[in-house]
Amino acid sequence: MDFVIRLEEEKDFEKVEFLTREAFWDLYGPGCDEHLILHKLRKSPAFVKELSYVVDKDNHIIGNVVYTIGKVTNGNKQVHEVLCMGPISVLPEYQGKGIGSKLLEESLKKAKVIGYKGVVIFGNPKYYQRFGYENAKKYGIQTSEGENFDEFMALELEKEGLKGITGKFHIDSAFEVNKEELETFEKGFPPKEKNFKL
Ligand SMILES: CC(C)(COP(=O)(O)OP(=O)(O)OC[C@H]1O[C@@H](n2cnc3c(N)ncnc32)[C@H](O)[C@@H]1OP(=O)(O)O)[C@@H](O)C(=O)NCCC(=O)NCCS
Repeated sequence: MDFVIRLEEEKDFEKVEFLTREAFWDLYGPGCDEHLILHKLRKSPAFVKELSYVVDKDNHIIGNVVYTIGKVTNGNKQVHEVLCMGPISVLPEYQGKGIGSKLLEESLKKAKVIGYKGVVIFGNPKYYQRFGYENAKKYGIQTSEGENFDEFMALELEKEGLKGITGKFHIDSAFEVNKEELETFEKGFPPKEKNFKL
C-alpha cells in the first residue's frame, strides 16, 4: 500500500482528532477521550511538534503519533526529561497492515536523531516489546504513584540513554480530562453510539 509519513500540519488537526476518535472508540471503555487529550496536548509546552507525524494516503490522513515531554523526578529533586509516546492511532480499516509499526519506527528514528535519550509509555507489552520497550522497572523508573507493571515501559534511544534517570514518571497535565470538557468537545464531532462491552 502506498502512503507517506510526514509531519503533521495545522490543516490536519481536525482530521487527526477524528481518526483518533475512530481508532479509540469503545476500545478501553464507552466512547473515548484520546481525541480530546490530543487536542489539549497540542497546546501544551510539553508537546513535541517535530515528532508529530501523520500517515497520508492520497491526501487522506489514516494514522498519527505524537510525543510529549514527561518528567522523571527523584528524591534529590533532580528532574530529568524523557519522551512520552502517545496517543498513536491508525484508522480501524487500515489497522494490522504494518502502518502503526512504520509510524513508530520512523518517529523513534527521528527522536534519536534530535537527541532524545529515552521514551516512556503506557501500552500493551505484546505490541511494544517488538520495538525494544521493556518494563520501566528495569531502568528504575516508576509511575507517579510509585508503581511498576507490565504496561508501563521504557526504551533507550541510545546505549545507556536512561542511565541515571531514575524515579517517578510524570506525564503532562494535558492528559487529564474531565467529563464536562469531553461532553463539550464531543459536540464538534458526528454523533456516535457507545457500545463498549467488557
Ligand atoms: C495500536 C495501533 C496504532 C497499531 O497500528 P497497526 O497499523 O494496526 O499496527 P501494525 O499493523 O504495525 O501491527 C499490528 C500488530 O499489532 C497488534 N496490535 C495492534 N493494536 C494493538 C494493541 N492495542 N495492543 C496490542 N497489540 C496490538 C496486532 O495484533 C498485530 O500483531 P501481530 O503483528 O503479532 O499480528 C492501531 O492498532 C490502533 O490505532 N489501535 C487503536 C488505538 C490504540 O490502541 N492505540 C495504542 C494505545 S497503547
